[in-house]
Amino acid sequence: MNERLTIPRPDDWHVHLRDEALLAAVLGDTARHFARAIVMPNLRPPVADTAAARAYRERILAALPEGLAFTPLMTAYLTDNTDPDDLVGGYRDGVLTAAKLYPAGATTNSDAGVTDISHIDAVLAAMADAGMPLLVHGEVVDGAIDIFDREAVFIEQVLAPLRARHPALRVVLEHITTAQAVDYVRSADPALLGATITPHHLAINRNAIFQGGIRPHMYCLPVAKREHHRQALVAAACSGDAHFFLGTDSAPHTVDNKESACGCAGIYNSPTALATYLAVFEQAGALDRFEAFASRNGPRFYGLPVNAATVTLERTEPTAADGVRHSAEGDICVFAPPLALHWQVVAA
Ligand code: NCD
Ligand code: ZN
Repeated sequence: MNERLTIPRPDDWHVHLRDEALLAAVLGDTARHFARAIVMPNLRPPVADTAAARAYRERILAALPEGLAFTPLMTAYLTDNTDPDDLVGGYRDGVLTAAKLYPAGATTNSDAGVTDISHIDAVLAAMADAGMPLLVHGEVVDGAIDIFDREAVFIEQVLAPLRARHPALRVVLEHITTAQAVDYVRSADPALLGATITPHHLAINRNAIFQGGIRPHMYCLPVAKREHHRQALVAAACSGDAHFFLGTDSAPHTVDNKESACGCAGIYNSPTALATYLAVFEQAGALDRFEAFASRNGPRFYGLPVNAATVTLERTEPTAADGVRHSAEGDICVFAPPLALHWQVVAA
């Protein structure tokens, strides 16, 4: 009998589902593995208000393959012009689960993001009052700051002062990549500050981006850091600590857009995410903590019930990452971690 693990269905607390042809190509990969997902709003144009989020949620539900139970949890993209009444109204009506802060220019489709945090102070105050979570892409955009330092500098120069100004605001620092982020998050009240950790940041360090040549499919933002940072992320995820929860940051781009003179940031990992996480937890001797990270800590932070349905994962012979997803816009390369993938969903 192979080793098995039965846990409440996991959720993905950070995913990019895109729209139209890409949405149709990738949605099944998320919905097969995850009961719910926090859907990122960085479409072009961004999903910047309640009406746009409601319409996007309808398009996602319409694209859902038959037979899959999946709940998209919607977010609004903060801009310099966000209307606090619309935002908090959308949260109170159950259309929005959170709002996402992209510093303008920090990553893919972030041009419309916030140019200076002081512009959204009234919005943050209204969110804190309502208990609406703020999800943060935590990188400064100052070209004078080394790209590998941008997360640590953001925490010090932007996030810590922001949280001091709005002490009741509930914040998720998304896709953390550094030991500094782990330490900062761990030092806060877990009801007020959490962090998502991706499968790729647990599985690779920055060497993977340059191994034998330049590897565009290993490039995302925040960019992978040194090995000691990866080890800090593994220790955080595998500790079961309530601050840390699963968020894939699966971010599909067509191969044409990745393999280019200026390839865009984003790793598409939905098909291999669970198997990658499980390989990392197994290597750390922490399979018994996977349930906390994947199924319990996220719902606790968001004040949502743990999923009643369960999923059974089984350790099998290693499976090959199935290389590519086809879409009407072009092929999408699937993240293949430098790890043997033994774990598969056998029953949902
Ligand atoms: C994301 C994308 O492609 O939308 N890219 C990425 O590298 N993670 C945006 C983001 O989450 O930063
Ligand atoms: Zn993202």
